[in-house]
Amino acid sequence: MRKPIIAGNWKMFKTSAEAVLLAREVREAVADLGQVEVVLCPPFTALAAVEGIIADSKIGLGAQNMFWEEQGAFTGEISPLMLQGLCDYVILGHSERRQYFGETDETVNKKMKAALFHKLIPIVCVGENLAQNEAGETEAFVGSQIKGAFAGLSAEQATKIVVAYEPIWAIGTGKTATPEQANRIIVASIRQVLAELYDNNVAETVRVQYGGSVNPGNVEGFMGQPDIDGALVGGASLKADSFVTLVKGALVKFR
Ligand code: 13P
Repeated sequence: MRKPIIAGNWKMFKTSAEAVLLAREVREAVADLGQVEVVLCPPFTALAAVEGIIADSKIGLGAQNMFWEEQGAFTGEISPLMLQGLCDYVILGHSERRQYFGETDETVNKKMKAALFHKLIPIVCVGENLAQNEAGETEAFVGSQIKGAFAGLSAEQATKIVVAYEPIWAIGTGKTATPEQANRIIVASIRQVLAELYDNNVAETVRVQYGGSVNPGNVEGFMGQPDIDGALVGGASLKADSFVTLVKGALVKFR
């Protein structure tokens, strides 16, 4: 069975001091929960401080973005070399980065290769907008994002990657795909495309999260689906009690 993975994307929230407090609360509550992988993704400015809190626990650390070059005159960017050894994961291609900062399938693919080269596991985000959803274009669009993101990666590299299916219209809106819809898209646009690109082993090994208004009330529905292995959580990850409830919700996989 694929190990469930619940990740908190704190987005542009939390000062370093606030991040430390939240990380400490999460750590205290989930320290003994070995069955579910927990990953915290604070802003860059809080990564080192949060690492100090979770260092000797099983909780993983993720960055929210990175550039693909190792170093150079790229003012304001963060390189994979700077994250290597500090983080385990890096979120790539989040829809907010695609929408507001011009990221494309090509730049996401460059970042995927750079992350893997530096031993960082990408959590690569895909998902359709409302117009695409209503036009029935979801499967084709998400499938094309997967092809773009995985281009040039070996099967061995591909199996390490975590994919987050986040329909844009469900992010921060309180609207969600139904668990059945999300599972269907994940099978049709992610696992089947991976099977075409690679083979069934890769398609069945890659862990896929759902993201978009996941909360303590709906998490078990998503985690109860066979092809949903976890959640990438924004708003509900910003408070320890709701995030910890989400992590415990993933235990439905073992019932
Ligand atoms: P919300 O959980 O706030 O909808 O955000 C989802 C998300 O974008 C996680 O990356």
